[in-house]
Amino acid sequence: MRNGTKLLLLAAMALACTACLTAWGAGVAGAASLGLTDSGAPAAQVMFPVGVKPNPLGVGMKPVVFNHLIHEKKVEDCVVCHHTGDPVSCTSCHTVEGAAAGKFITLEQAMHATDIAKREKGITPQSCVSCHEKQLARRECAGCHSIVKAERGNDWCAVCHVVTPKMTQGQMRKGIEGKMAAAENLHLAEETALNKPQAVAVSPQAGPLKVLIGGLADKYQPNLFTHRRHVASLMEAIKDDKLAQAFHSSPETVCAACHHRSPMSTTPPRCGSCHTKDIDPANPQRPTLKAAYHLQCMGCHEGMKVERPRKTDCATCHKPARQSAD
Ligand code: HEC
Ligand code: HEC
Ligand code: HEC
Ligand code: HEC
Ligand code: HEC
Ligand code: HEC
Ligand code: HEC
Ligand code: HEC
Ligand code: HEC
Repeated sequence: MRNGTKLLLLAAMALACTACLTAWGAGVAGAASLGLTDSGAPAAQVMFPVGVKPNPLGVGMKPVVFNHLIHEKKVEDCVVCHHTGDPVSCTSCHTVEGAAAGKFITLEQAMHATDIAKREKGITPQSCVSCHEKQLARRECAGCHSIVKAERGNDWCAVCHVVTPKMTQGQMRKGIEGKMAAAENLHLAEETALNKPQAVAVSPQAGPLKVLIGGLADKYQPNLFTHRRHVASLMEAIKDDKLAQAFHSSPETVCAACHHRSPMSTTPPRCGSCHTKDIDPANPQRPTLKAAYHLQCMGCHEGMKVERPRKTDCATCHKPARQSAD
């Protein structure tokens, strides 16, 4: 790309990014563009639910905008996604109802399936969700994600199923009938991608510097937990990851990895407000407070292969209680 074009592009993207912090559509639609792909695929594409009887207008799921540009930068091998070796649209074989060309694997299965059996030979197909799930095993994600069971509720669906409100019903109809021109599709997709609202994560400063965890102290001295260091190092490792940015859809999502099962907040309840010292007869399946700490601390450390402390290094976390003089 020539330098001049690159600069123009950067300027356009900077403008568009101010817009993504504000409201939908306030951006400079028309002027902004994502840039060109090396593959020749459109930089982004609105994927419509194509089928014999696709969703009637206005009900069901919104279409999905797929950003080809960022994906092909991270996933170099085309056949990982274009599993038949032919880079054509998925809907030419996987339709809403399922079609012979796609062995009646519906569009919904092809996009969300997570229990895909490994193929004996050739390529094992991947859905959007199955590949994203695999990403969570990367070291920088594996700590939180080994202690988090994601809810995958409506907010989760809406990260993918979102399209600019500028799309008209007429355009939706053209899309699901497979009659939208490539340029019009690209325009809607870029408009969506560049103006997608995105949560800005709260800063590690929003939490305490250190927390004294000592409610149980008996055999051991209280533990001085390096709260801010923990949050900062977890956030630092993921700050450039677009998947995490998009799916951590609330500013406090990072906090909720540890402060779970309560409304997202920067002043979350203490663990002891739900986990009791002894087994709670009303919730026998719930870990006791000691187990809750140990499982959470160790679960993440093991997920991220943290060298120190290992779970057997009891004294790194809490020194034995000083014996009273006998
Ligand atoms: C990782 C991205 C992603 C997430 C998350 C996601 N979907 Fe989808 N979904 C797609 C894509 C891509 C398609 C195919 C294009 C289309 O139909 O818009 C699709 C298609 C569908 C379809 C079939 C087409 C239709 O409109 O009838 C349904 C139903 C659906 N999704 C429901 C859901 C629900 C419910 C959730 C949340 C529980 C969800 N999806 C979350 C990517 C996603
Ligand atoms: C992460 C998955 C992924 C990777 C990797 C990927 N693609 Fe795609 N590609 C897609 C999806 C999804 C679409 C949209 C398909 C649709 O609209 O149904 C697409 C669309 C395309 C299209 C437009 C197809 C059409 O007829 O509308 C072309 C061309 C294309 N890809 C080429 C490539 C090439 C070449 C590579 C390798 C350099 C590649 N892609 C890598 C997922 C991927
Ligand atoms: C030329 C037709 C064709 C195209 C295009 C195509 N598929 Fe497929 N797909 C198939 C067939 C046939 C199968 C079943 C064969 C198999 O199991 O290997 C399949 C299977 C799958 C499966 C496995 C589902 C499961 O649970 O086992 C997934 C996921 C999938 N496709 C995703 C996609 C995605 C995503 C795209 C677009 C990037 C795509 N496919 C494009 C024909 C196609
Ligand atoms: C082979 C793996 C793979 C597949 C398949 C895949 N993704 Fe992704 N996806 C990624 C990775 C890796 C990232 C993070 C890219 C980055 O950080 O630059 C990502 C990022 C994203 C994001 C966040 C960035 C954005 O565009 O806003 C969304 C949304 C998304 N993918 C949707 C989809 C949809 C929809 C599909 C299916 C049509 C899909 N992905 C298929 C690997 C995959
Ligand atoms: C500081 C902890 C933390 C780290 C580190 C972290 N996540 Fe998350 N992530 C969460 C929490 C909490 C949720 C929300 C679960 C919910 O709302 O149900 C979540 C949800 C998600 C989701 C949606 C749920 C799903 O299973 O599809 C994706 C995708 C995701 N994270 C990607 C990533 C990626 C990629 C990384 C690494 C680059 C990462 N996360 C690192 C805490 C974290
Ligand atoms: C990653 C840090 C960490 C490691 C490693 C660790 N613990 Fe703990 N442990 C804690 C925290 C935090 C508490 C809660 C402290 C409190 O509330 O007083 C705790 C509490 C306890 C308690 C209850 C409080 C007390 O003083 O009696 C016992 C017993 C205990 N741990 C034993 C162990 C033993 C034995 C090991 C080594 C096999 C170990 N822990 C390793 C973090 C750790
Ligand atoms: C790695 C896990 C983890 C993450 C991530 C995390 N916290 Fe905490 N936080 C803790 C633990 C453990 C405690 C001690 C709770 C207890 O003993 O009851 C705590 C305590 C707190 C307290 C109470 C301090 C006090 O003295 O009462 C606040 C406030 C807090 N966290 C805010 C946050 C905020 C805001 C975030 C996100 C920026 C966050 N936390 C992220 C683990 C975490
Ligand atoms: C608002 C109540 C609440 C708070 C506060 C809370 N938990 Fe939990 N915790 C639960 C519930 C509910 C479960 C699931 C078990 C059950 O159904 O009772 C659970 C389960 C767990 C588990 C088992 C694994 C899992 O995720 O199911 C661990 C470990 C745990 N909590 C650690 C902690 C720690 C450490 C803190 C403080 C940072 C904390 N919890 C704060 C309610 C809470
Ligand atoms: C979500 C992941 C995660 C959770 C939960 C977690 N840790 Fe850690 N911890 C880390 C990582 C990553 C490191 C190493 C990186 C660093 O030093 O910043 C670390 C390092 C440490 C260290 C050595 C460095 C230091 O700060 O002194 C101690 C001690 C420690 N953790 C204690 C705890 C205790 C106690 C808990 C539970 C109350 C806990 N951790 C929960 C991720 C986690």
